[in-house]
Amino acid sequence: MESNAPIGVFDSGVGGLTVVREIMRQIPGEEIIYFGDTARLPYGSKSKETIIGFSRQIVKFLRTKEVKAIVIACNTASAFALETISQENEIPVVGVVGPGAKVAVEATKNGKIGVIGTFGTVNSNIYTQYIRDINADIQVFSKACPLFVPLVEEGWLYDPVTIEVAERYFSELKSYGIDTMVLGCTHYPLLRHTLQKVIGEEVTLVNPAYETAISLKRVLQENNALRKDALPEHQFYVSDGAERFQSFANTILPCRVIETTDINIEKY
Ligand code: DGL
Repeated sequence: MESNAPIGVFDSGVGGLTVVREIMRQIPGEEIIYFGDTARLPYGSKSKETIIGFSRQIVKFLRTKEVKAIVIACNTASAFALETISQENEIPVVGVVGPGAKVAVEATKNGKIGVIGTFGTVNSNIYTQYIRDINADIQVFSKACPLFVPLVEEGWLYDPVTIEVAERYFSELKSYGIDTMVLGCTHYPLLRHTLQKVIGEEVTLVNPAYETAISLKRVLQENNALRKDALPEHQFYVSDGAERFQSFANTILPCRVIETTDINIEKY
């Protein structure tokens, strides 16, 4: 593995930037090539076959940049495509679901965990499987919250409309007495303050991004592939709306994004 090579990270849109932010905090020397599939978002309502097809195209594009590892910074694509993408590529592929499940199990005290995510992630049951593999006694209550993704893409992070939507989604979850809730979609950490207010301060919110960055760091260390060059030059690509993406990215990331390129991902 070429240690100075970049890391490929992808999501359906801006959500994966919450994972990029953690990677930048924890392994700041690493160079990132990010792709947001803004033209084909949302992923959460699409079939497994479609998401595997999209993921294959994106990985093919990222590999033209000679990346040394791939991070699937999207829960839906992690749920549907992690296995296939890992099998088809000889470089390490890291998803967000395993790391998120691990943190949730460590965080819960009463053994009742809520998971919110897209239809795809929730219906795949992937979090329940990962959590119960670690501790079969834990109860998992899941709720698909598809409207959160467009609200984030719209930038309505603290809007009364977002609060109302969250109240409707969470009314049932609240009745189960969960003490931990996994933000099982990479868009959701951007709504963290609003979601915390609605679910209640006593519930621990789990953002899988932090543990995902730790997993990535571990994988790079094991392969003796942590980057040695200073001053990484990150690159950002989207399938539509580069300008809009870039201004959003600049509100999320600790570095300044000065260029975002639109590409035709269907070509790959
Ligand atoms: N951010 C993605 C996830 O973590 C998908 C959102 C979407 O496109 O529906 O699931």
